[in-house]
Amino acid sequence: MISLSKKIIVTGSNRGIGYAICKRLIDDGFNIIMVDYDSDVANTARKIKTGNNSAEGVVCDVSDYNSCQKAFENYKGDDIYGIVNNAGINRDTLFKNMTYQEWDAVIKTDLYSVFNITKVFIDSMIKNNCGRIVNVSSASWQGNIGQANYAAAKAGIIGFTKTLARELGKYNIKTNAIIPGFIKTPMTDSVPENIREKFIDKIPLKKIGLPEDVANAVSFLMNEKSKYINGALIDVGGGLVL
Ligand SMILES: NC(=O)c1ccc[n+]([C@@H]2O[C@H](COP(=O)([O-])OP(=O)(O)OC[C@H]3O[C@@H](n4cnc5c(N)ncnc54)[C@H](O)[C@@H]3O)[C@@H](O)[C@H]2O)c1
Repeated sequence: MISLSKKIIVTGSNRGIGYAICKRLIDDGFNIIMVDYDSDVANTARKIKTGNNSAEGVVCDVSDYNSCQKAFENYKGDDIYGIVNNAGINRDTLFKNMTYQEWDAVIKTDLYSVFNITKVFIDSMIKNNCGRIVNVSSASWQGNIGQANYAAAKAGIIGFTKTLARELGKYNIKTNAIIPGFIKTPMTDSVPENIREKFIDKIPLKKIGLPEDVANAVSFLMNEKSKYINGALIDVGGGLVL
């Protein structure tokens, strides 16, 4: 049984996959800290809270190192059990048309954020000799037309995950990554119908995934049952990439 004091921080959690992860972790008995740059996150946290579990919302731009340090200066000694680095954006366009701003925004949000947030809590996790880090990558990490920025960030997350798995295993901290395929969220709702159809056709299960499918995998990686899993990439894509 999970100690009620155990807290998990989830970035990018005001909607989509991050929100579903929070809902699932609350059901699992964890306390959660929802982080988002959407100022509505405090409200969302109030609504998601059930029973004895605590849920708090922290407004923070996770792409910015100083904002992360400032937002969490009071949490540093806290009993943080887990981190889910989920926040991400895309700015898709062919590389020949990609601006520096589109490159920079995606690398900072999708990759630097993982450094920024993990850095805040890592010392206390090492001190506690316990912890779980789950990084949300993407099937696009292997390269995808129109996503040079996104693929670079998501591939970077995998290198980061495997390195932390090697460095932190001795402190009983397990670091793993989730590789979602095509999941129904506000991020993918804007994908034009013809491209959506092409994606579905490439998925052996012939349907797009739900945020809850990703949340279930995160739940497993936070659970005692996954205690010997470290440095793994868990694919949640219905077989999109095999
Ligand atoms: N939806 C998919 O098909 C899919 C597939 C593969 C990977 N992913 C990854 O899953 C994660 C979640 O995606 P989603 O589909 O739920 O996206 P989404 O756009 O629906 O939600 C992203 C959330 O992150 C927040 N956010 C964005 N930038 C932020 C920042 N700088 N600081 C704080 N919060 C920030 C947004 O406000 C939003 O609440 C992302 O990392 C995404 O790359 C999604």
